[in-house]
Amino acid sequence: MTEDLQNKAALVTGASSGIGEATVRALRAEGWTVFAVARRADRLTALESGTGAVAMPADIAEDDDVSRLLADVTAAGGIDTLINIAGGARGADKVGDASTEDWEWMYRVNVLGTMKLTRAFLPMLRAHGRGTVLNLTSTAGLDAYEGGGGYNAAKFAQHAMTNALRLEEAENNLRVIEVAPGLVQTEEFALNRLGNAQAAQKVYQGVAEPLTAGDVADVVRYAVTAPHHVNLDQVVIRPVAQAATHKLIRKG
Ligand SMILES: NC(=O)c1ccc[n+]([C@@H]2O[C@H](COP(=O)([O-])OP(=O)(O)OC[C@H]3O[C@@H](n4cnc5c(N)ncnc54)[C@H](OP(=O)(O)O)[C@@H]3O)[C@@H](O)[C@H]2O)c1
Repeated sequence: MTEDLQNKAALVTGASSGIGEATVRALRAEGWTVFAVARRADRLTALESGTGAVAMPADIAEDDDVSRLLADVTAAGGIDTLINIAGGARGADKVGDASTEDWEWMYRVNVLGTMKLTRAFLPMLRAHGRGTVLNLTSTAGLDAYEGGGGYNAAKFAQHAMTNALRLEEAENNLRVIEVAPGLVQTEEFALNRLGNAQAAQKVYQGVAEPLTAGDVADVVRYAVTAPHHVNLDQVVIRPVAQAATHKLIRKG
């Protein structure tokens, strides 16, 4: 049984592509008010026309943008659910060859961006009385792998922050959920990480049915529409072909 869906409102970051965009669609289909956040305004405007979500272009790691977002969302009626999906990976270098620029990008968006949005919206979520924060981390935040150091470090940090927040906010009846997917085939994730289409395609080559953005969005939708006293602390979701981080079955 789901909560009363009247007046449910979420802010979803990472809404211009992949898992975030699919999550906006899933929650709009449930009748929620959705504020869709990412940097690319053109993609958000298209999503707004197609779904009725409210486009709110912003860089989640920029303090001025976060302040503006808070003011605009407050003026539009506020939210009870914050869904932090914006993030990603840059590079697959071993620690010995690490690019400082890539590591800074990953820490800035996955960790500081999630923290800044959460910090800004916490008073609103507490005041609501039945607030929810959902952080989209990764199995990269649970197991390290060779060439994953920078992304592992950022996602482990986001995972730790999520656990701390759950402990800190339980007294405020704030539900804090972590969804940690394994291999998800989205249009841009591997392309942005590796920089070219050929390398990006190899990530999924021979893998029978990697997860889709829709698969993950379904889990997010389930987690945030469950009755409020039900807290899915951490949901790990992988394709069957990925029995563990180190065991990815490729054919051909
Ligand atoms: N794909 C996978 O295999 C996988 C697996 C596990 C976890 N994840 C995690 O799932 C999340 C979504 O991944 P995805 O596959 O959907 O990747 P994606 O398609 O590359 O989406 C990333 C989203 O983050 C937004 N974003 C990046 N930097 C931002 C910033 N500074 N401010 C605001 N928005 C920003 C991007 O929009 P703009 O560029 O328009 O700003 C985009 O909408 C990420 O946190 C990723 O680490 C992905």
